[in-house]
Amino acid sequence: ELLNRIAPGLLTWYDKSRRSLPWREEPTPYRVWVSEIMLQQTRVEAVKPYFARFMERLPDIEALAEVDDDELLKLWEGLGYYSRARNLKAAAQQIVTEYGGEMPSDYRELLKLKGIGSYTAGAVSSIAFKQPNPAVDGNVLRVIARLLEDNSDISDQSVKKRVEDDLRPVMPKDRPGDFNQALMELGATVCLPNGAPKCSNCPWQEFCLVGLHGTWQQYPQKAAK
Ligand code: ADE
Ligand code: SF4
Repeated sequence: ELLNRIAPGLLTWYDKSRRSLPWREEPTPYRVWVSEIMLQQTRVEAVKPYFARFMERLPDIEALAEVDDDELLKLWEGLGYYSRARNLKAAAQQIVTEYGGEMPSDYRELLKLKGIGSYTAGAVSSIAFKQPNPAVDGNVLRVIARLLEDNSDISDQSVKKRVEDDLRPVMPKDRPGDFNQALMELGATVCLPNGAPKCSNCPWQEFCLVGLHGTWQQYPQKAAK
């Protein structure tokens, strides 16, 4: 199956192409968590200054659990979707009261925290704890749909679930966090959402079905909302 072939080339490509990012160079559970929440609706370049200020003012989970709502709002102002910040604080309080102030490493435990869904649980457990869980967002859904010329509607939640189940067994056990970040990076810099993907720069060009057939305009399929 095609998915069995994706990891080696992807990791080699990532080693060459990866950007140095603040949360990548020091991937503590707290830093990975906060950065992934910020990155969900905001671009990398816009997140950088917010992330730096947030970490300076709230360097750990205890500080976040205790921050005043006014100050939290100021730190988040401009990022939008303020419920993300409220959920971060609520989850930090959960971690303090239920997990002794330490971020849980287990995927199932992470899912119990406010504001953490399968994407964030996968990202934190893989990047910060080296657990082989996928982190599937819209970028990853697009890249995988193109690889397979999969006609599924990617806005359907059951498709995300299936892609997670399909990726889990092909994740490299020694580098699950890099595998997930490489998929995100491929979606952000090569297999672009608008306009033609840069298939000649892609580690999968020899077997990706959309790459071979030039059918990128048809994938992914997405129903109008
Ligand atoms: N977008 C979401 N998560 C990311 C990450 N860890 N690195 C770069 N871009 C991202
Ligand atoms: Fe995307 Fe092209 Fe790579 Fe396929 S070969 S994953 S379409 S960039």
